[in-house]
Amino acid sequence: ASVEVLGYPFSGGQPRGGVDQGPEALIKAGLLDQLGALGWDVKFNPEVMNEVRQLAVQEHDSDIGKMHKPLAVSAVNERVADDVAAIQERGALSLTIGGDHSLGMGTVSGTKRRYPDAALIWVDAHADINTPLTTDSGNLHGCPVSFLLGLPGTNIPPFNVWMQPCLRPEDIVYIGLRDIDDKEKGILRDLGIKVFTMHDVDAHGIGRVMERVLAHVGAARPIHLSFDVDALDPTVAPSTGTPVRGGLTFREGHYIAEAIAETGNLVAVDIVEVNPALEDEASAAQTVAIGCSLSRAALGETLL
Ligand code: ARG
Ligand code: MN
Ligand code: MN
Ligand code: MN
Repeated sequence: ASVEVLGYPFSGGQPRGGVDQGPEALIKAGLLDQLGALGWDVKFNPEVMNEVRQLAVQEHDSDIGKMHKPLAVSAVNERVADDVAAIQERGALSLTIGGDHSLGMGTVSGTKRRYPDAALIWVDAHADINTPLTTDSGNLHGCPVSFLLGLPGTNIPPFNVWMQPCLRPEDIVYIGLRDIDDKEKGILRDLGIKVFTMHDVDAHGIGRVMERVLAHVGAARPIHLSFDVDALDPTVAPSTGTPVRGGLTFREGHYIAEAIAETGNLVAVDIVEVNPALEDEASAAQTVAIGCSLSRAALGETLL
């Protein structure tokens, strides 16, 4: 089987520098060889990283309403969607390494072009479902899901030039949430979106949570896994821009990826929000290593 790795050195969906160094750090840590050792035919075009760095530089990228860097986020994600869709047209699995989570706009749009019925499993401390109207921070990494759903306020240029709503509320399952803005809580409740917060992980254990996640998804449906490393506890993945205490353990995070791998239905994976410039060197190395090990787990690495 083939996996094509996409590295997007993009930080424009949030204010902290360094998250754009995520892809290079994971590649340097040996990600490609590790996936090859699992038996995958691995492709990676490093030129994509340069092209995306160019796209991320947009002149006169002033705020639209509260949104920061709308031109950069839109231009990069238009490209991301094309890349992901092309990989899946070739029958390969796409593995996207971020970069910040605004990249979810593009990755999920790409998956939905090839697999309109795909389910989205979003593993995160945050819901990332703010709209341009509800966002307090103005950071677009807090908004990708609302654009994918086509919520009020998202049908605006430059985004609506290339993206259209492609996701239904029942397509999404969240795992690991613990820092949800009040207006996001309203959206999640109103739309009846399936959410397993850290409270649910505490109450039932990750095994039963994953049984319920996969029951909601249903058998034989393509799955897109979007994994924000801040879903993990900050002691486990310290080098990330918006850490929140009380997160998933190392094993809980990997179990999620392993359980999804076992379905055989995975078509796309995002590993985002690794920021090697934050915390000390050892913390950065630990977080990068976890980006690699989560990728391996999602691609079928087993403990035995
Ligand atoms: N809810 C906050 C916001 O909208 C935090 C979002 C954090 N998102 C992330 N992908 N780390 O700004
Ligand atoms: Mn996120
Ligand atoms: Mn997050
Ligand atoms: Mn701001």
